[in-house]
Amino acid sequence: MISIVVPTYNEKDNVRSVAEIIKQTLCGHDYELIFVDDSTDETPLILEQLSEADEAVRYLHRDRERGLATAVARGFEISRGDVVTVMDADLQHPPAMIVTMYETLKQADADFVIPSRFVCGGDDGGLNIYRKMVSFVARYVGKLLLPVSLRKISDPTGGFFMFRREVIHEIELKPVGWKILIEVLVRGTPTKVVEVPYRFQPRNAGQSKMSTKEQINYVRHLLKLLKDSPSDRRLYLFCLIGFSGVIVNMILYSILVRVGFGVPLSGCISAAFAMASNFALNDRVTWADVKGKRLIERAIKYVLTSVAGIGISTGTLTLLYYDAHVHYLDSNLIGISVATVWNFIVNNIWTWRR
Ligand code: GDD
Ligand code: MN
Repeated sequence: MISIVVPTYNEKDNVRSVAEIIKQTLCGHDYELIFVDDSTDETPLILEQLSEADEAVRYLHRDRERGLATAVARGFEISRGDVVTVMDADLQHPPAMIVTMYETLKQADADFVIPSRFVCGGDDGGLNIYRKMVSFVARYVGKLLLPVSLRKISDPTGGFFMFRREVIHEIELKPVGWKILIEVLVRGTPTKVVEVPYRFQPRNAGQSKMSTKEQINYVRHLLKLLKDSPSDRRLYLFCLIGFSGVIVNMILYSILVRVGFGVPLSGCISAAFAMASNFALNDRVTWADVKGKRLIERAIKYVLTSVAGIGISTGTLTLLYYDAHVHYLDSNLIGISVATVWNFIVNNIWTWRR
């Protein structure tokens, strides 16, 4: 059976059409249509009528809770199918794709199918230029969190996908905000993911509920995933070691200055020493499990990455200070943060490449 989980928030002018079109499209298939509703309008009344009229339709109304992703996760819990699909209620995701996804799942012997707006034949038709940019950044940042084998997924932040129930077997989902797909990809156990092109449609009725708040929630969600995933305790270790480097640097620097090496030379020696100690610690601790390449190669890559990192922090700081008139200390702090993220990512995927 295919379970189709549809989150709804004030979609009174859409839910009837969705139920009707799905009924036509999936005629002959064994399916259930589950609405998980947080609405404050008359949507739940209509869902009640729909579920009475058609036994394939079920719904759950949440009074006190809100949130797209938690609604969908709740839908997974009450669903019964061996195959699960998620789609929006506004017909931006063409229901006919459900059949295509299902066929692909079987033919490709896959356990995950994602309709993509960004492969050949796909189209992101519904987005304005601002949403296009936000979506671009969200996709690329999101991809970095995926295991390397899943990084080629072109549309990891959409709200339309299908998977076999095994993928979330005994997995506890703890999403924040909207991006349930990334949650399932990261916490679940997909083994073969296939993408098929689709054209994102204009909204049937009503308005998008996307907001800046949800974009901030996405960052919170990513940080939570980072914190929870064992392989990415690395980021913490990396920051911790980076911090230890600052202390090493300061101690050595003050000794050298007192001994009489002069400020510039002392600064240079202690920075080089801190870099070497950071490298050694990261090599033994943060990426202890990822060896394989020669030590000298890792060291060279580490130094190159760090040098580029200095360029990035200096560049960011200069831009912020001169163009955006940010306070000089804040500018430096933001520059350092950006460079830390850069250093971490490049070291993770290049220096200590698995
Ligand atoms: N239960 C529940 N609770 N549902 C919600 C909530 C909520 O708090 N907020 C939104 N929804 C439902 C909407 O009713 C709709 O069915 C679906 O989630 C998507 O909301 P839209 O407001 O239509 O979002 P969008 O079109 O701007 O963005 C969608 O498409 C993008 C591209 O695929 C979302 O699916 C995005 O996640 C996706 O990136
Ligand atoms: Mn929509």
